[in-house]
Amino acid sequence: MTAHLVFDEPDKRNRLDAMAQEVVGRPIDRSEGALKVSGRAVYAAEQATSLWSEKRAECLYGVFVRATVPLGRVASLASGEARAVPGVLEVLQDPRLVRHPAQGMARKSPPQDLSEVTYFGQPLALVVAESFEAAREAARLVRVEYETSAEAELDPAQAPSELPEKKQSAQGDLEAALREAAVSLDASYSTPSMAAAAMEPHAALAWWEGDRVTLCGAYQMVSQNAEELADALGIAPGKVRVLSPFIGGGFGSKLGIAPEAVAAAVAARTLGRPVMVTLARQQEFEIAHRRSETGQRVRLALDADGRLTGIGHEARVSNLAGESFSEPVQQATHFTYRGENRQIRHEVARVNLTCAGSVRAPGEAVGVTIFEMALDELAEKAGLDPLELRLRNIPEEDPETDKPFTSHMLAEALRDGADRFGWSDRRAPGERRQGEWLLGMGMASAVRVNMLHKARVRVTLTGEGARVESSMTDIGTGTYTILTQIVAEMLGLAPDRVRTILGDTDLPEGSGSGGSIGAASNGSAAFLACEEIRRQIAAQMGCPEEELTLKDGRATCGNRTRDLAELVTEPLSAEGHFEPGKALKGVRSSTWGAHFAEVAVNEITGEVRVRRMLGVFAAGRILNEKTARSQCLGGMTFGIGMALMEEMVHDRRFGQVVSRDLANYHIPAHADVPALEVHFLEERDSYGGTLQAKGIGELGICGSGAAVINAIHNACGVRVRDLPATPDKVL
Ligand code: MOS
Repeated sequence: MTAHLVFDEPDKRNRLDAMAQEVVGRPIDRSEGALKVSGRAVYAAEQATSLWSEKRAECLYGVFVRATVPLGRVASLASGEARAVPGVLEVLQDPRLVRHPAQGMARKSPPQDLSEVTYFGQPLALVVAESFEAAREAARLVRVEYETSAEAELDPAQAPSELPEKKQSAQGDLEAALREAAVSLDASYSTPSMAAAAMEPHAALAWWEGDRVTLCGAYQMVSQNAEELADALGIAPGKVRVLSPFIGGGFGSKLGIAPEAVAAAVAARTLGRPVMVTLARQQEFEIAHRRSETGQRVRLALDADGRLTGIGHEARVSNLAGESFSEPVQQATHFTYRGENRQIRHEVARVNLTCAGSVRAPGEAVGVTIFEMALDELAEKAGLDPLELRLRNIPEEDPETDKPFTSHMLAEALRDGADRFGWSDRRAPGERRQGEWLLGMGMASAVRVNMLHKARVRVTLTGEGARVESSMTDIGTGTYTILTQIVAEMLGLAPDRVRTILGDTDLPEGSGSGGSIGAASNGSAAFLACEEIRRQIAAQMGCPEEELTLKDGRATCGNRTRDLAELVTEPLSAEGHFEPGKALKGVRSSTWGAHFAEVAVNEITGEVRVRRMLGVFAAGRILNEKTARSQCLGGMTFGIGMALMEEMVHDRRFGQVVSRDLANYHIPAHADVPALEVHFLEERDSYGGTLQAKGIGELGICGSGAAVINAIHNACGVRVRDLPATPDKVL
């Protein structure tokens, strides 16, 4: 049976709140948590050793030969020495290999000529050997000569650029608004290139059975990735199976099919044996998507009542030539604050640096952060409390399109956060001191667009419990747990009687994990499947589905109660198909929140220590308060990194990544992360699928860095406009 819903109308039924068990929302532990902490969850690079013994003995290892110039053409590639290394079987230069990851969600991986070098570190060939060590040694011995006819573009600020037409917009007269403003601001900012830096590096194991390939890897969107891989290999999509049951973080870097996956599949085909290709951490920094650096100019016009009349936001980002992705810096600028006169300019420089792509909350992560830093400057110029400036400028509806918001709790989040944090204790810069440390407080709004995606989930109920199946992935965000909770709730089972199986393209096609779409989209599909199963049970009990109560393994209709174990003699199975229809077309859907930070700035060394941070978030129904909180804590920690340390540095002469490991690419360590507090506002959004939920995954990173930067100013009076705020810039 299938239950298909085209989501054309908001779902106002609020059904989950009427269910009997109250499992949804509860902060229960991750259902796969014990597997992870006991080492029994098999991650991609461990797949080879978990193969059945016959296949394990056959497994080969591949290591990339990579470009040592940022631009040019491979004139010759001499592999004689490499082939002489004992255990080496092949040095593959197959035209099907790809040089950088697909962007994800595209279902296509366009041909990428490997002999054309467009960035330093680009894969050129794959050495395949009986052991990883032999392959690595041999890859070092491959001699590559290049022909170069042009200068590489290695400076994003100077490189030639484009203005994609669809990304420019204007309404009213910003220049006039700026001229007539009581207070105005025109300031330029920059953020560096950043890495997703997922804890688990990319790895892929592939083997063929006949004309069908199985790929074990770590990918966020396995159904799309299977199509991308099929496209790269030139085979039918049905001939690819992708398995990604456990993923050690993605943050965008695993959205699209990547060179190691294609290489493993091609090599396995060529050599007729399973092949594993893993990326070392350094390769991870050079090959996986980076977040583009941004140059941003913010212009703001404020009237005498503290109301914004004009907003200008310009951004310059970069990517390889021909790539359609560009960091959507101004995504939330369009609708976060009021103002009749608005202008967006979006410029993309074409460079020979690692491919830029989606990294954790693409757009808002850096766009909202810079915009909220600019608002802090404007508030200071206007003599307004920064909190008050935000509160005065929250629009009634989308200021560009006049579309209503589906739900909007920015004001509530700002007020609630200010109360809890003790914002009223904030003083002027330099007024709070402990020895050589100056203390300050800062705040920022949080905002992230909210989307839905088509998704399919199958639920099967037996006398013992339920099974939930989808190709949806869990990248560490809690998908296993929330799907388990939704099905437990709907079918009246304890969560430990629900088994959720994910990350396999042989299962019904889930949405994949990206853009915070997972929970509401796949959750809605699971809900639909359960509703169908409930209808079948209700029919057996002789009452309408709405009157059926399922609780603690028992079904009740009116005064009749029966054990599910006795009622369900044959497995009941249903597939929920959720399709975002027209419901979100006429409205603006976004998640909202508020960030507060307190920092101490050492006036002698310029060192910044974050003392505490607090976030208040509203994202519709929260499906599991613990996993949702973890997402926000992670996002706020990213914010500390963005404000104080994260910076991917490319050598301007040769184009290679200099900060290409976690010793040189600084991210917050435990000692850098102080007491973080997260609160959720109670919210139901009837436009959030059948669960009335919105995506929470990426909201925490949006704006959190600005709260830290704004707190630095409040501590010591220094404005840093060029992230990260390292001690040299603070002094
Ligand atoms: Mo997210 S950057 O869409 O994985």
